[in-house]
Amino acid sequence: MIAPGRVAVVTGAASGIGLGLSERFAAEGMHVVMADVEEPALTKAASELAQRGASVLPVVTDVSDRAAVEALRDAAVSAFGAAHVVCNNAGVGGPHGPLWECPPGEWDWVLGVNLGGVINGVRSFMPLLLEQDAAHMVNTASIFGVFAGTLGPYGVSKHAVVALTETLYFNLQSLGVSHVGVSVLCPGAVRTNFGTSARNRPASAGPPMVRGEAEQASAERFDRLSATGASPAEVAGIVADAIRASRFYILTSLNRNEAVTRRGSEIAAGGPPAPPVSFV
Ligand SMILES: NC(=O)c1ccc[n+]([C@@H]2O[C@H](COP(=O)([O-])OP(=O)(O)OC[C@H]3O[C@@H](n4cnc5c(N)ncnc54)[C@H](O)[C@@H]3O)[C@@H](O)[C@H]2O)c1
Repeated sequence: MIAPGRVAVVTGAASGIGLGLSERFAAEGMHVVMADVEEPALTKAASELAQRGASVLPVVTDVSDRAAVEALRDAAVSAFGAAHVVCNNAGVGGPHGPLWECPPGEWDWVLGVNLGGVINGVRSFMPLLLEQDAAHMVNTASIFGVFAGTLGPYGVSKHAVVALTETLYFNLQSLGVSHVGVSVLCPGAVRTNFGTSARNRPASAGPPMVRGEAEQASAERFDRLSATGASPAEVAGIVADAIRASRFYILTSLNRNEAVTRRGSEIAAGGPPAPPVSFV
C-alpha cells in the first residue's frame, strides 16, 4: 500500500514525526493529505513539500473534533479518491505532576488529542480503508504506552492508544480481514518540537499547572533525553518498513527489549513498577 499514486493521510503533519512521515510518503510517490491544527506551520510545511514536486493537500484539522476528522476524510476522498495509509499521529504533552492536582481542562486536552484523536481517526477512516484492496493504519502511542512512566495524563493516554490498537487488530482478525493492517508506533526519544506542544494548548484547558521542583526536574530530564533521540526521518523509515512487513508493534528505543522484559517480570512478580532507566 506504500506505492506511487496511493494516498497517505497523516495527522500532526506540520512538525516532527508527522512531517517526517509526510516527507517519506511523498518521496515514495504517494499523494499526502497533511492534517494539523497549527495552520501557519502546516501551510509552510505543505508548500515546501509541494515545491519539491510532492502531491500534497494540507487540511487544517483539530483531531479532537469528531466532525473535523470526518471532514478530513471527505477532503482526502474528494481530492484523491481514497486513503490507503492513515497515520493517527497528532499528540501533545501536558503536566507531569500528581494526577489528583491535574485540572480537568488539562485531562480533557491531553486525552482529547492523544486518545480522542485516534478514536476519531479510527471511526472516520477504518470504513474507508476496508473498501481498498490494501491499506494500513498506524496509531502513534509512545514508549510510555508500554513502559511504566511518570508523565501524568500523557502516559495514561498512550497506554490507551496501545490498548485501542490491539483491540483494533483483534477486531480485524475476528472479521477475517487480511487486506488492512494496523500498527502501533511507540517511539522512544525523537528530535521534534514536542517539548513546546503547549503552543497548541486551547484556552479551554485553563491555566497551565504550576510546576513543582520535582516536576520541573522530570520535564527537564525528559527534554534533555529527547534532544538526543532519533530524527523524524529515521522514525519514518522504520514506520515504512514496518507497514511493508505488517509489523504490529513499532518500538524505536535502543533499550526496548530489556525494558519490556523487565516490565513483564515486574508485573508477574506483583510489582511495584519502576520507570525505565532511559527511553532514547
Ligand atoms: N518526540 C518524541 O520524543 C516522541 C516520543 C514518543 C511519542 N511521540 C508522539 O509522536 C507524536 C508526534 O509528536 P512529535 O514528537 O512529532 O511532536 P511535534 O510537536 O513536533 O508534532 C506534533 C504535531 O501535532 C500537531 N497537533 C497538536 N495538537 C493537535 C490537534 N489537536 N489536532 C491536530 N494536530 C495537532 C502539532 O501542531 C504538531 O505539528 C505525538 O503523538 C507524540 O506523543 C513523540
